[in-house]
Amino acid sequence: MLDTFISIGDTLKEIRENKGFHLQDVAKNTSINYTILSRIETGKRLPTKPQVQNLATFYNYSEEELIKHLISDKILYEVQNEDFGLEGFHLAEQKIKYGLSLFNDYNHLEKFELHSRRYIGNKAKLTDWIMEIIQKETTGNDTFIDVFSGTAIVAKEAMKTYKNVVLNDILYSNNVTYQAFFDNKKWNSKKLIDIVNEYNTLNPKDIRENYFSKNFGGKFYEKDLSKIIGYIRQDIENRKEELNSKEFAILLTSLIYTIDRLANTVGHFDAYIKKPIAKRPLNFRLIQTEDFEGAEIYCEDSNKLVRKLKGDIAYIDPPYNSRQYSRFYHVYENLVQWKKPKLYGVALKPEPENMSKYCTVKAKNAFKDLVENLDVKYLAVSYNNTYKSKSKSSKNKIKYEEIVEILNSIGETKIFEQSHKYFNTGKTDFNDHKEFLFLTKKYD
Ligand SMILES: C[S@@+](CC[C@H](N)C(=O)[O-])C[C@H]1O[C@@H](n2cnc3c(N)ncnc32)[C@H](O)[C@@H]1O
Repeated sequence: MLDTFISIGDTLKEIRENKGFHLQDVAKNTSINYTILSRIETGKRLPTKPQVQNLATFYNYSEEELIKHLISDKILYEVQNEDFGLEGFHLAEQKIKYGLSLFNDYNHLEKFELHSRRYIGNKAKLTDWIMEIIQKETTGNDTFIDVFSGTAIVAKEAMKTYKNVVLNDILYSNNVTYQAFFDNKKWNSKKLIDIVNEYNTLNPKDIRENYFSKNFGGKFYEKDLSKIIGYIRQDIENRKEELNSKEFAILLTSLIYTIDRLANTVGHFDAYIKKPIAKRPLNFRLIQTEDFEGAEIYCEDSNKLVRKLKGDIAYIDPPYNSRQYSRFYHVYENLVQWKKPKLYGVALKPEPENMSKYCTVKAKNAFKDLVENLDVKYLAVSYNNTYKSKSKSSKNKIKYEEIVEILNSIGETKIFEQSHKYFNTGKTDFNDHKEFLFLTKKYD
């Protein structure tokens, strides 16, 4: 057991020495610069919170303990040379206890932005490129239809130009995020902040095992954390009567965004990492809602929906291989629906639901049917093959030539391409993998 009354720097040094590591080993394994590490250990600077989290994981040491040391050092730094430092600190303690935080104002809280989540195939890094082409090549600013919205990052960008933006996805967990970020209903931030403050003081010791912890604890989430997640989800359900639909959606979406970074996965729920999971505090945060009056939100099969819509342009970004999104994100689908189904297999998946035709041999026909039935002037279609082509499940269900042929049959098509180097971190070798955007002006 380490001494409580030593600084975060001394604490980190002692842990490292007890483990028999040299500073060089730590620098190599955590990607924290050697000099920075040395300055932290000698008390010449404080570590950042992500650095502490990184070190806790590397040392397999309680993150909670280290964060507590960090916070106490920060406070000490602020008050030690003040005449009334200790008194000020005691007053702050009372304010914290009684929830009198200065930061109880939604505008001043640290929040999650729409893009702060991991989602396979999201276009976050390509949005500017896509929208630039659309702006240059098309006319009209009335209605933009994002048929397969996913994270809604493209739809959000379109909101800067178009009066109405249609958002759609078959996943319930995506639909709830659209309601949370874009539904124009009034909501009470004070009410939600009070609830969030309660969530952030939950102690796992006081919480019983529940559906979420029994199934996912020690697998997709650390055991104590999974108890808290299950408890919060049930609590949101229990409060349904006192929340309007926007408030309900904001709490659920905030829960998803909060736990997204705490999942013991590589970014989806097809599998979990089979190593002991470090303890991490929940730190529940609300999302930053968007101000836009023209969002139209659907949770429908794309091909059924497009028959009902009319617009200037449709953006089409379906899945192109056999990996089903409803299976990748089954934990969030489960959490949002909260029907507590029986789960199967190592990855604890429910019975299949919302399986997409676009991930099957029917993809080509589905695509043809979709573009023929869209009542728009323009179509913008994203196409890529970002997975390693060696794996069968990663092979695209619609070939490049097939897309071109189908699009040429309904209008005049221009093709734009972007090398993947533009948006991957450079770590993966995608060789000749490219991102394409087909821009079709439909025949009258
Ligand atoms: C490649 S992702 C879209 C990514 C999105 N453009 C973004 O930037 O986040 C494809 C999306 O299509 C959805 N999807 C698949 N089949 C669908 C269907 N038949 N109808 C509606 N949505 C579907 C998936 O759930 C997934 O979110």
